[in-house]
Amino acid sequence: MQHVSDRSSAIRIAPSILSADFARLGEEVRAIEAAGADMVHVDVMDNHYVPNLTIGPLVCAAIRPHVRIPIDVHLMVQPVDALIPLFAKAGANLITFHPEASLHPDRTLTLIREHGCRAGLALNPATSLSVLEHLMDKLDMLLLMSVNPGFGGQQFIASTLAKLTVARERIDAHTAAGGQPIWLQVDGGIKPDNIAAVKRAGADTFVAGSAVFGAADDDGGYRTVIRHLRQQAQQG
Ligand code: DX5
Ligand code: ZN
Repeated sequence: MQHVSDRSSAIRIAPSILSADFARLGEEVRAIEAAGADMVHVDVMDNHYVPNLTIGPLVCAAIRPHVRIPIDVHLMVQPVDALIPLFAKAGANLITFHPEASLHPDRTLTLIREHGCRAGLALNPATSLSVLEHLMDKLDMLLLMSVNPGFGGQQFIASTLAKLTVARERIDAHTAAGGQPIWLQVDGGIKPDNIAAVKRAGADTFVAGSAVFGAADDDGGYRTVIRHLRQQAQQG
């Protein structure tokens, strides 16, 4: 297992490079690390599972030497399994996939851990929490999508808050019964003005793409926005 901080009370901010300047990716990820980001969120889209096409393991490997913080790979691809060894080799620390995209989600979670990464499951806004029922023991992170996957810059779907509350109850019950810690991540439309409510509903790990990379970094803008997101989350 690669080293990833595991303070369960922590607030983790994971800027999504989907909104970064792709022509200057090395510089961009160094800038967010220097600005206090906890992880780099990498959105992998295949124009099949989602209607957009982004980046593969080569790009993950290219940014790996530029940062020490964990690389959090969000796979929006179908099928999933063949890409896991490639992203693990490319330096991913966490790998998350959508259960609808894998024929055998239990096998896929096991495969991720066998490759030394933390295993995450991502649920779309319309996907029920019931898929967790037989998978909790194999999860290191649950990602609730607060937009439909495929694009940055979309609006937060408010019904995610109630879903987060239920997910938080399930995770807490699991750990209280002796189960492993599970991070609860939220992804899509996270901004300084809604992050407190999202934290209050139970999330501990926050993806933010356009909110972070929409700020110009020439005068320390990334640091200001990451600090602001963290401070607002602490109010939650
Ligand atoms: C959407 C991606 C998100 C996206 C978030 O499919 O999974 O990670 O980059 O972008 P914002 O924060 O702009 O909604
Ligand atoms: Zn994402």
